[in-house]
Parts: sequence; structure tokens; C-alpha cells
Amino acid sequence: MDSKMQGLLFFCSFVFFSSIRDGYAGFTSSFVRSEFPSVDIPLDHQVFAVPKGHNAPQQVHITQGDYEGKAVIISWVTPDEPGSNHVHFGTSEDKYQSSAEGTVSNYTFGEYKSGYIHHCLVEGLEHNTKYYYKIGSGDSSREFWFETPPKVEADAPYKFGIIGDLGQTFNSLSTLEHYIESKAQTVLFVGDLSYADRYKYTDVGVRWDTWARFVEKSTAYQPWIWSAGNHEIEYFPYMGEVVPFNNYLRRYTTPYLASNSSSPLWYAIRLASAHIIVLSSYSPYVKYTPQYKWLSEELTRVDREKTPWLIVLMHVPLYNSNEAHYMEGESMRVVFESWFIKYKVDVIFAGHVHAYERSYRFSNVDYNITGGNRYPVADKSAPVYITVGDGGNQEGLASRFMDPQPEYSAFREASYGHSTLEIKNRTHAVYHWNRNDEGKKVTTDSFVLHNQYWGNNRRRRKLKHFILSVIDEVVSI
Ligand SMILES: [Fe+2]
Repeated sequence: MDSKMQGLLFFCSFVFFSSIRDGYAGFTSSFVRSEFPSVDIPLDHQVFAVPKGHNAPQQVHITQGDYEGKAVIISWVTPDEPGSNHVHFGTSEDKYQSSAEGTVSNYTFGEYKSGYIHHCLVEGLEHNTKYYYKIGSGDSSREFWFETPPKVEADAPYKFGIIGDLGQTFNSLSTLEHYIESKAQTVLFVGDLSYADRYKYTDVGVRWDTWARFVEKSTAYQPWIWSAGNHEIEYFPYMGEVVPFNNYLRRYTTPYLASNSSSPLWYAIRLASAHIIVLSSYSPYVKYTPQYKWLSEELTRVDREKTPWLIVLMHVPLYNSNEAHYMEGESMRVVFESWFIKYKVDVIFAGHVHAYERSYRFSNVDYNITGGNRYPVADKSAPVYITVGDGGNQEGLASRFMDPQPEYSAFREASYGHSTLEIKNRTHAVYHWNRNDEGKKVTTDSFVLHNQYWGNNRRRRKLKHFILSVIDEVVSI
């Protein structure tokens, strides 16, 4: 295909997607797709298989380890004894020139005794580089690889996946396999990981273990950026467990200190051309609380010249027109929405509701108790809100939407799936929601996301000029 034809195709897509975006005619898909029963995969299924060998590392997962993408935290569990605490790594297969030493700990949860949980910070990495790594020892050692992101700069392209409320059913397995097919580079996970809290006593810990083995085929090879949901709280006085997030925090680390956060539950990273802020829906966030104070400071550190894309993750959606969890995000919306508009957040991803929903750019910041304005209004400075709580857990789909569809709601459907956000440059990114459909992933909602900061900039005008010149050329053929 020559460059003129590519230009014409790009223009046609641009017009099509723009017309969707600006239409304010919401669409409720009648499609409801639940491929498999909402029950967890049996414990003896091969997706939970324990790797062979004495004390072999299992449940391997990585996440970004710093503020810039030059470090990863590699985590794994050894079941029988602490074993080696080193990660051996290098840039060519079977040659591990470097090593790093991590920490190891175990814990109890009721009567459950965990394996030995290792967390190892591997730092000083080069950007855009494939690294191979080895953990464990002797015949039981295991090898994996990962790729570091490009340097933090304005036009760095990058492809994110977005997954939420995953669980460990056969629907979850479809979502995970479809996500891997999407060939994205990092998962933005919007909370509710294992649904182990649906079990009791020792089975809670057992299902945290099975979940981590279940997702290892992705989590060992690319970073998953974690945020916590209600299923991570696990407040269980009946078994003496009253410290929230215990299983989650023992197993899933985040680089919170690198963004001056005081808690692993809320933090920020910079990755390629994106600044990603992770919030905790279930930690205090009202005025004067640590999370509130931290967010107020982190937003001032966002440099849109270096990271044009500002993305926020949280578990509970601020805009949700499903009957499930309706209004649960309202208190956080009241506290933070005006900041999200002031700082021109591009998109906010959430989970919690087991369905898919995308909003237009709307806000409700004019509302106050006495002002009289009570309804969300179209607002070009507002983020797009996307709910992707449709990973496929054992609680099933949330299939009852409010009727009529509110004006702010652009698209909604009660099916399982995952999303991708492919950043092309500083001005635009391509978004897809991919439904699980008869064993396939089917793109069901897509649009071009225009950057909120650079959208009105000279560079955007330059892009428009380029498109018009391509049209002129095509017309004159
Ligand atoms: Fe949830």
C-alpha cells in the first residue's frame, strides 16, 4: 500500500472515529456473552500445574521497579524452603552476566502457611532491551525474559493492555489468552485479582497461589501494574485476619517509594510516553489523608512535555450506569474529579463492575449542595472513563444497565473481555475493547483517543495540515 492510500485510510478512520466520539448518542449492546459457567477452574487443572523439580520457583511475576522504566521487581514463590534469593540476568540467552539479590519472607493467614515469597529489585537496566533471567537453583531453576520500555519521551510508542476483575474461571482463561494474543507490552490491572476471598480458611491462601500460577504465562514475561480492589481487602475476623490487604501486599509489590508515596496501594510510574497514576479506592482519600496529599503533589510532577499521556487507574469507576455498584464511586468523584479536569487526564480505567462501559468526555464539577446544577455535562477537558471489570471471575456478569442510558455513557455491554491502548505518538492513541466471543477475541468498541494536552497544540495543527495535504493529493490524482 503506498503512502497516499495509507493517508486516505487514516483520514477515513479519523472521520469515522471522530463522529462516534462527538455524537453523544450512547449505545447499549444487547449482546451478552458468558462462554463458560461462573465457577473456578478445578485445582487439579493443568493451568495451575506446579513446576517440576524440588523447590522450583513458581508464581513468577514482574512489575516496574522505578519511576522511569529502568528497573523491574521480579517476584516468585519457592514452596519447600527459602532457596536461592538471586536473580541472574543478562541480554543474551543462557548468559547471565549480572545478578541481583532480593528479599524472602513467608507469612500465615489463619491456618494457611505461605511458601517463601521472593521479591528482587533488578535495576540499572537499559531502555528498549530484551533481558533474560534465571531464578531458582540446579535442576529446578527456571528461565524467563522481559523487555524494558523505551526511554521516557514524548513520542515513545507503547501498547498497554487493560484487565480487571480477572479471577480464575474458564472465562478468565479466555481473557488471559486473548490478552496475550493482543501482543501488548504491559498490563494495567484495575483490581480484583484472584477472588480467593470467596473461599474460607486455608483455601484462601491456596487460591492466591493457584491464581499466581494461572497468570504466570504473562506475568513472568512483562510487567503488570497492580492496583487493589475490594477482593484484596480480606477483612476476616472469623479467622483472626483483620489487617486489610494482607495476602495482596505480601505477594504483589509496587515501586511506591520511587514516587514519594507512603503506601504500596497508591503510586505513580512513568512508562514510555505515559504518566500512570494508581489510586486505591479502599484507602482513605478525603482531604488531609495521605493519599489525597500524595495525589495533589504527584499531579504537579506530571510533565506533559515528557509524558503527554496521563492515565489514572482505580478500582471503582467514577461514572457507572450499571445497576451493579451504582454510585459507589461517587465519594471519590466528589473529591478528585476537579483535579482530573484541571490536569487534563486523558483516560481513567476502572474495574469492579463486571461489564464494559465507556463514557464521553463529561464532568459534574459544577455540582455542589446549593448550586442547583445536578447533572453531568459535556466537558472537553474531562477524561474518558472506561470500566473494564469484565475479566471473567466467578461472580459472573453484571447484565442490568440503568435505563435510559445516561447521556455521559457512550457504549456499554455485559460481556467478558479486555482492552488495549496503543499510544502512537504524543497526539493520538488507538483504543480497543475486545470481547471474548466463541473462543475468539472480537473487537467490539474502538476509537482514536486524542491527547488532552497536545490536542490543541501547534503540533496537532501540523498533523491536521498533513492530513489535508494528503487529501488534496489524493483528490488531484
Ligand atoms: Fe470489585
